[in-house]
Amino acid sequence: MSSKKFATEAIRTQIERSQFLEHSSPLYLTSSFVFEDAEDMRASFAEEKERNIYSRFSNPNTSEFVEKICKMEVAESGYAFATGMSAVFSTFAALLNSGDHIVSSRSVFGSTHSLFTKFLPKWNISTSYFKINEVDGIEGLIQPNTKILYAESPTNPAVDVLDLDLLGKIAKKHNLIFVVDNCFATPYLQNPIEFGADLVIHSATKLIDGQGRVLGGVTVGKAELIKEIYLFSRNTGPALSPFNAWILSKSLETLAVRVDRHCENALKVAEFLEKHDKISVVKYPFLKSHPQYKIAKKQMKLGGNIVAFEIKGGVKNGREFLNRIKLCSLSANLGDTRTIVTHPSSTTHSKLSVEERFEVGITDGLVRISVGLENVEDIITDLDQALN
Ligand SMILES: Cc1ncc(COP(=O)(O)O)c(C=O)c1O
Repeated sequence: MSSKKFATEAIRTQIERSQFLEHSSPLYLTSSFVFEDAEDMRASFAEEKERNIYSRFSNPNTSEFVEKICKMEVAESGYAFATGMSAVFSTFAALLNSGDHIVSSRSVFGSTHSLFTKFLPKWNISTSYFKINEVDGIEGLIQPNTKILYAESPTNPAVDVLDLDLLGKIAKKHNLIFVVDNCFATPYLQNPIEFGADLVIHSATKLIDGQGRVLGGVTVGKAELIKEIYLFSRNTGPALSPFNAWILSKSLETLAVRVDRHCENALKVAEFLEKHDKISVVKYPFLKSHPQYKIAKKQMKLGGNIVAFEIKGGVKNGREFLNRIKLCSLSANLGDTRTIVTHPSSTTHSKLSVEERFEVGITDGLVRISVGLENVEDIITDLDQALN
């Protein structure tokens, strides 16, 4: 979607005004909705009418949020969840049966990895993995029972980039459902549906909220698949709360301007780190030295706000660096106005074995920075003093 259209849709997509003619959408904190009479109630439950019944199914605030994300991702339909992980889990649980198989990039968020290795196998759903640099081998992993091709790009935390166009073509050729976790890019920087994705997932907790306040998730894409996800979720209850939906819908109004500045700051931080003699490797999608720079340029508007780097001297120097940080926060979140520094191998990805971490580029000295909206000179000064 063009930047101009994006900003207008983000602000002007709005639920119908109430009798008070409010300018800004009100908050509908209600568990249920009332019916005119018995026939209205029957017809609503029979889905002969499209209307709100109960906020586990739908609510005006969640509908506004979902409609905005659908427009931004150019998707047909969607459903909003309490967290990014409930969006990931419910998408798999709704679409897969016992005996089905997933082909996934090995570089996925730690909890998604746990879902594949510890929980989905309980229901006889298995996963085969491909490495970022072994995309050529994907077709060899596809089995007669493979149903989903799954990827995250850029990846958390190593900021690798996958060729979405290539993956979309493979999924189409083998009739697989192509699911992309678009959390790091946001709908502003990248639209996986343009490259053949059937479903796009977001942890709205990150840049979509952007201010570190609420948890949320969303899956958007083909209407027939969303219908399955909706029916599963309506009955199992992972719905986003109306309050969080209201916050997130307001946040979307400023997504484009916030993400523009996040990316501007992140590029400056990455360029600073790249020149620093205490750093051995810096990874940022829009740095020319990034291994998938050309792919990133092809599919992303800007490079995002996450920078990964390796401090010379491994774990010891990495931990000392974190202990000397003053302005930035040591926190588990990302995509906040506040710059956050983390050490993935001892935190978000600690449940992976050393070998598993190594395979996805999470070395012991890897540090991930979620670059915020503070003055970039102040961010750089803090990193510099901690490095020296
Ligand atoms: C890429 C990615 N996907 C999914 C999630 C899960 O989101 P949530 O914490 O909202 O459940 C995260 C969280 O960090 C993430 O980084």
